[in-house]
Amino acid sequence: MFKLTAKALACALSLSIAGMAQAADPIVIKFSHVVAEHTPKGQGAALFKKLAEERLGDKVKVEVYPNSSLFGDGKEMEALLLGDVQLIAPSLAKFEQYTKQVQVFDLPFLFKDMAALDRFQQSPQGQALLKSMEDKNITGLGYWHNGLKQLSANKPLREPKDARGLKFRVQASAVLEEQFKAVRANPRKMSFAEVYQGLQTGVVNGAENPYSNIYSQKMHEVQKYITESNHGVLDYMLITNTKFWNSLPEDVRTELDKIIVEVTAEVNKQANELNEGDKQRILAAKTTEIINLTPEQRGMWRDAMKPVWAMFEDEIGADLIKAADAANQ
Ligand code: LMR
Repeated sequence: MFKLTAKALACALSLSIAGMAQAADPIVIKFSHVVAEHTPKGQGAALFKKLAEERLGDKVKVEVYPNSSLFGDGKEMEALLLGDVQLIAPSLAKFEQYTKQVQVFDLPFLFKDMAALDRFQQSPQGQALLKSMEDKNITGLGYWHNGLKQLSANKPLREPKDARGLKFRVQASAVLEEQFKAVRANPRKMSFAEVYQGLQTGVVNGAENPYSNIYSQKMHEVQKYITESNHGVLDYMLITNTKFWNSLPEDVRTELDKIIVEVTAEVNKQANELNEGDKQRILAAKTTEIINLTPEQRGMWRDAMKPVWAMFEDEIGADLIKAADAANQ
């Protein structure tokens, strides 16, 4: 009869205990982002954690790090590629190092409203962008809405000439730099976590953000005016590390994919309401006057900024710009 020595038995036992421990270890998914919790992206990350842990029991543990508490702009993408985080949702303005096509979303006055943006994102061209960075190990899992951007400053901005000479904070986007140069303002790239202080100390005089970012970062406390310009969009691509996602056990990945569809629908349903609520909170705070443009004034901003499209047509692709524009119909 085959006999096990005491040593072999102990070894086999410890291996099987290690195996059991391994099987019981949950897969940890770190989700890092730069905004506050009470924002469309913050709420989306929290809902993803809730549903993933509810439905996948001990198999998955989701750790959410809001407010640049783990990685800020500039670092979060690097961290995703290094495997230090598994999910991030950068604004679509922050992809130019990885693909020039995603710059389409930054073109000023391209989408007439969030519904048009949504139509483009759901179109074959929009969906293809989610997969356009897989050779760089980045997979897009969905688009999350925030909202339309408003201009803020310490002086009233009614016409493009009012912005002349002012320093505006921009995200890391060449398109957004050109957008401000087009009105003879000075763009300054700055990470999101630094914006409040930048505005407070006068390093920059103005910025562009949806109401939810303005309110949750208290930017209204250091900006006397907001011009409701709706001149561009701030939306997100929820992304993961391609190799990590493909390495997940199939049942886990399938469930997470389903959850992401659900969370995406919820984020996109609630984003507008959140922004509207924050607009009302800003008005109630009485720190900031909200300026509504006349159609003529808005037309002046559009005319001044629209030449930026042609500057990026080669990089983005004329067809893609055309497809995005077609979503306005
Ligand atoms: C910004 O940098 O202004 C935004 O991208 C922040 C965010 O994630 O909404």
